[in-house]
Amino acid sequence: MKGLVLSGGKGTRLRPITHTSAKQLVPVANKPILFYGLEAIAKSDIKEVGIVVGDTKNEIKSAVGDGSKFGLKITYIEQEAPLGLAHAVKISQDFLKDDDFVMYLGDNLIKDGIKTFVDKFREKKPNSQILLAKVPNPQQFGVAELKDGKVINLVEKPKQPKSDLALVGVYMFDKNIFEAVNNIKPSLRGELEITDAIQYLVNKKYNVLPHVITGWWKDTGKLEDMLEANRIILDTLEAENLGKVENSSMEGKVVLQKNSEIKNSTIRGPVIIGENCKIVNSYIGPFTSVYFNTIVENSEIEHSIVLENSKIKDVKRIEDSLIGQNVEILRSEKKPHAYRIMVGDSSRIEIA
Ligand code: TTP
Repeated sequence: MKGLVLSGGKGTRLRPITHTSAKQLVPVANKPILFYGLEAIAKSDIKEVGIVVGDTKNEIKSAVGDGSKFGLKITYIEQEAPLGLAHAVKISQDFLKDDDFVMYLGDNLIKDGIKTFVDKFREKKPNSQILLAKVPNPQQFGVAELKDGKVINLVEKPKQPKSDLALVGVYMFDKNIFEAVNNIKPSLRGELEITDAIQYLVNKKYNVLPHVITGWWKDTGKLEDMLEANRIILDTLEAENLGKVENSSMEGKVVLQKNSEIKNSTIRGPVIIGENCKIVNSYIGPFTSVYFNTIVENSEIEHSIVLENSKIKDVKRIEDSLIGQNVEILRSEKKPHAYRIMVGDSSRIEIA
């Protein structure tokens, strides 16, 4: 069995971060989202994984490498444009050959992993198996209708959903999926849709089984979802201090990674602070992750993700934010008193 991880895409919902970087590499609790998926695949006893990459291929390649750090053998598959999830399957045929495979969307996080799901496929040997979860708002998802323990219908964002079972971003297929992806036509948005491919299998009487998960999962394509994922994962960490703490209060679960320094500050967990960071005269509140080489001085920050090489200085309070790499947020006494801003396209700034 092989793995296929989708790590291309446009990432429009996470601009401006995705103008310059891969959304799959945004860290959740200081670990790129993509790594959680690769670890889950490795734990399901799969060794050979293809990663579909787009414009951000170099960044993904340098983060994941040959996969040996995950116990995996990685092959990179270049998609010329984000033409849909089923298109990603189509271009991966040379890599997948006739093998069964699990397809995992690289920006999805499934807290309990996928081993039970993969083992069920190994045991029942259907043609396809889809991961589902009960949701309160099925109108916003791909929704599956079941009958006698099988999938009989899939609808993308139905106005009147026939069930509350949403598609979670993990699927399993045997080689018959290629017949489907080679026969479907692009949707109105111009993409080859995986829901259409699965519906093709259902219509042709292939055996498509559902697997409903009860644990937490998230598609981290938007800021709010990213922050929620960060919250859930931070809550599972154990406190650890590998840095230097001086005249500061560390409350609750706080992970302080190597060569970081906390001075005259309050850190209220769950919080993770990465390597080579400096937190001085500041408050870091619950559900905050600070990646590496970042400085926070005379500032307060809570419920946020701050990426590497950034600097936050003399800022009263930041909440519910995702701050990119190499960002500076500073207070200035320069006259005239004004906001002086240089931000990328599709950025969002809320001022109190
Ligand atoms: P989506 O989140 O559905 O699409 P997107 O990444 O283009 O984002 P947005 O809707 O914000 O514009 O994609 C799910 C995952 O699949 C994600 O990791 C990107 C990847 N993907 C591909 O690799 N190739 C594709 O053609 C598409 C559509 C997505």
